[in-house]
Amino acid sequence: MEKKFIIAIDGPAGAGKSTIAKLVAKKLGIIYIDTGAMYRAITYKCLLSGIDLRFLSEDDYESNSLISDIIEIAKNTEINFYGDSIYVDEKNKDDEIRSSEVTKNVSGVSKIKEVREIMVLLQRDITQKSSALLDGRDIGTVVFPNADYKFFLTAEVSERARRRYNQLLEKGIEVDFDSLVDEIRARDEQDMNRKVSPLKKASDAIEVDSTNMSIQEVVDFITKTVLEGSGRNV
Ligand code: CDP
Repeated sequence: MEKKFIIAIDGPAGAGKSTIAKLVAKKLGIIYIDTGAMYRAITYKCLLSGIDLRFLSEDDYESNSLISDIIEIAKNTEINFYGDSIYVDEKNKDDEIRSSEVTKNVSGVSKIKEVREIMVLLQRDITQKSSALLDGRDIGTVVFPNADYKFFLTAEVSERARRRYNQLLEKGIEVDFDSLVDEIRARDEQDMNRKVSPLKKASDAIEVDSTNMSIQEVVDFITKTVLEGSGRNV
């Protein structure tokens, strides 16, 4: 494939997007952008500078004066991807952006229109010259509505929680399973119901329910679809 092409993978929290996206991008030899990591990076910086982000889950959050501080942080943060790693202001922050504190607050920060605008510009800029796979919530709907291939990856919430539970356990982090289910539900709820770029399946995306599929099966399905060009939106 010589022509530049874009693959969008969207879906709810913990559906396995990033694991699958990394493997597919590697197989196809294209760059991978984890857009969730970018929203996490801004959330991390806000927490680091001591902003209490809990107000973002309230109904009248837009009137809070802290919003402008968050936007300022988003404007002044440098985000780069080197391979599969994220560098925030030139430092590797792969672990820090996945802390439970960041996870709890990231959907709030992602609601802010100006933060999204800055991230979307960056996402389009990084992928200007080369073929890329991006995963997130709004890639097929907003960032690249004309993406060549669009997938919407889902799985039942209990299965998503189980996968996240095992992932954390592998890292030596033990969490309560039920609170993980609650956290995933709460994040989906916020992501689907926000005003700006809510999480939803693009009408032309191929839905893949991975509840009963292995990682390899999903990777093979997506790679095959792309290589065969059968899902190409031209
Ligand atoms: O935990 P998981 O890997 O499923 O989530 P993530 O992809 O790291 O995304 C973290 C959060 O960032 C999501 O819950 C959304 O609130 C937000 N996000 C977004 O709003 N738009 C994107 N394109 C990607 C992520």
